[in-house]
Amino acid sequence: MRGVVNYASAFAGNALSIIAPMTSTGTEAGNSSHAGGSVAPGAGDVSSRLRAGLIAAMRAAFPQLEGEPDPLVSPNKNPALGDFQCNAAMGLSKKLGKSPREVAAAIVASSRNAWLDGLIEPLTDGAIAGPGFINIRLATAGLAGQLEAFDTPALGVPAPVRAQRVVIDLMGVNLAKNMHVGHLRSPVIGDALARMLTRLGHSVVRQNHVGDWGLNIAMTTARVQQLVAKGELSLATLTLDDLDKAYAFSQRECQRDLAGLEAAKRWNMGPKAIAELEEQVHGATEAFAHARSTLLKLQAKDPATHAVWQRIYSVTMRACLDVCTLINVQLSDADTAGESSYADELAPMVEELQARGLAVQDAGALIVRLDNPPKDAWGELLFEPISEPCLIRKTDGGYLYATTDVAACRRRVQKLGAERAIYAVDARQALHLRQVFAIAHLAGYSQLAAAENGRASFEHAAFGAILGSDGRPFKTRTGDSVKLSDLLQETFDRAGQVVQARAAERGTPYSASELATIGRAVGIAAIKYSDLSTDRVKDVLFNVDAMLAFEGDTGPYLLYALVRLKRIREKAGAGEGGTVQNERAAFVLEHASEKALALTLLRYPQSLKSAADALEPHRLCQMLYELAKACAVFYDQCPVIDAPPTQRASRLRLCGLAERVLEDGLACLGIPTLQRM
Ligand code: ARG
Repeated sequence: MRGVVNYASAFAGNALSIIAPMTSTGTEAGNSSHAGGSVAPGAGDVSSRLRAGLIAAMRAAFPQLEGEPDPLVSPNKNPALGDFQCNAAMGLSKKLGKSPREVAAAIVASSRNAWLDGLIEPLTDGAIAGPGFINIRLATAGLAGQLEAFDTPALGVPAPVRAQRVVIDLMGVNLAKNMHVGHLRSPVIGDALARMLTRLGHSVVRQNHVGDWGLNIAMTTARVQQLVAKGELSLATLTLDDLDKAYAFSQRECQRDLAGLEAAKRWNMGPKAIAELEEQVHGATEAFAHARSTLLKLQAKDPATHAVWQRIYSVTMRACLDVCTLINVQLSDADTAGESSYADELAPMVEELQARGLAVQDAGALIVRLDNPPKDAWGELLFEPISEPCLIRKTDGGYLYATTDVAACRRRVQKLGAERAIYAVDARQALHLRQVFAIAHLAGYSQLAAAENGRASFEHAAFGAILGSDGRPFKTRTGDSVKLSDLLQETFDRAGQVVQARAAERGTPYSASELATIGRAVGIAAIKYSDLSTDRVKDVLFNVDAMLAFEGDTGPYLLYALVRLKRIREKAGAGEGGTVQNERAAFVLEHASEKALALTLLRYPQSLKSAADALEPHRLCQMLYELAKACAVFYDQCPVIDAPPTQRASRLRLCGLAERVLEDGLACLGIPTLQRM
């Protein structure tokens, strides 16, 4: 969509050791909807450079080709023939009226250029195989050179051409409710996205959109006040468990009316539904009426009521931030902007929307129709039409979840400077967020201060549910939901046991305090990795045994791969954080597993960028898993410490680089690492 910020942060000037022609190259993120623009390969980025070089060769061979030809490069199916293969000739042959082998020969003949020279063994007709595949072998020195360029503190991750301001919506708990397993994904995914984008040089603001306002909260407040008055509860010792009970009680008490509220939230049916809703509201029970009066008192900041609310707020927030600390999610009080913080902005905002004709009266309520979006300055629709109108003010004058979210969009762009606002929110809220984003665009709230920068983008990083290992909703045997803090502690304990069993086998068991630290790190790795390595929109199973396995695509496997790298270098004489002698020894990459490890390392910048652009952490997880596997094959096949001096030095440097990439990648996922396990 034009007019929307293009955050395909083109690589800054690249650190290639050659002067390469600037050319459009596409990226691994090519399948992300956000990729675009000309991108020059970053330092050590073999696949992008290969691609750029082959595109240049294809254009030189066939100047008549329009647009950017796709060289279709992939790892070679038969490593004996080469490291990569280019499969473009077959597809082009018809278009060009030549046989595939003729096309391949022409590409080969035009393949001397600044991208390819030095990177690959010069191509000859002998490289053409079968119907017209071109086998490509990296020059040994070429790969070493790429690795050399990659071995900088930034690990090949270029500074963005223009750093963006990104707001990430994560966590968003509701007051007075215990956290359960369903609360894990938003902070885990949101925090990983925040870390990845920060690592790429963007400026990230986290926003915890806490559900701390409205009738439900007023009901609970009223109930707590009642219990305190009866002497059954004390504000000083109030716990989240107390609040959870009070919440459930007040919900039951006002059930009849809640159904009406639910309908209001889902309402999309015009006057009849509104009338029904009104009826429900009029037929309020005593408890409901009491809750409403409590809400009015809250809105008016009545000191006694507000003090109780304040207490409910701080008890909930303490528990919420404690969980974040426990699982290594960065979130603080300063990142919290609850729904209550928007309360005073709603009336004027809605009046403005009405005055501008964007919100219209419908049987006493105010709605915004979204089925006929206007065009923007570029002649494109402002958003995809949505058939369901959005209710932003009820007939009784009350505002809704959506109203607050529209105000949040406005604040995020206009006050927090967001060019990109990302919502790590449950997939079930997709329609709600689409409506909210559409209203924000319609109202011009997404307009960036510098008009030429267009509009901010709002993106829903939707995720699926967390299910039990049986694939059903995660519950205890008695059907209750499990408290998140208990579940986390159990998982950490279990992780500790698994680690201790392994250590005992080696004859070096850990002390209790060591084990607590290790168990927590391994547990966090297990939980976060199982979440992040799954395609975000899919459901994930919370299967403790599977996520704690030390073999396979798991967090502990990656942590262990890192610990192993540290141990090798330690053994070779590098103290903790110290340097191995000859830190910058020349890379000698002769063995196939050394080459494979080097090539995997070089994918890091692209994987990170593609994961961040597409908001899909699993892309980074995949690359890190492949790195851990490449390390395992490498140790298996190549001695390090006992290798002859030149190889030893090169291999130690390779291990050092692998250690840094793995450490960096895990940090981007929010997974703490260990020295030992
Ligand atoms: N409190 C909301 C809920 O429990 C989640 C908030 C998500 N963020 C947002 N901006 N709506 O469903």
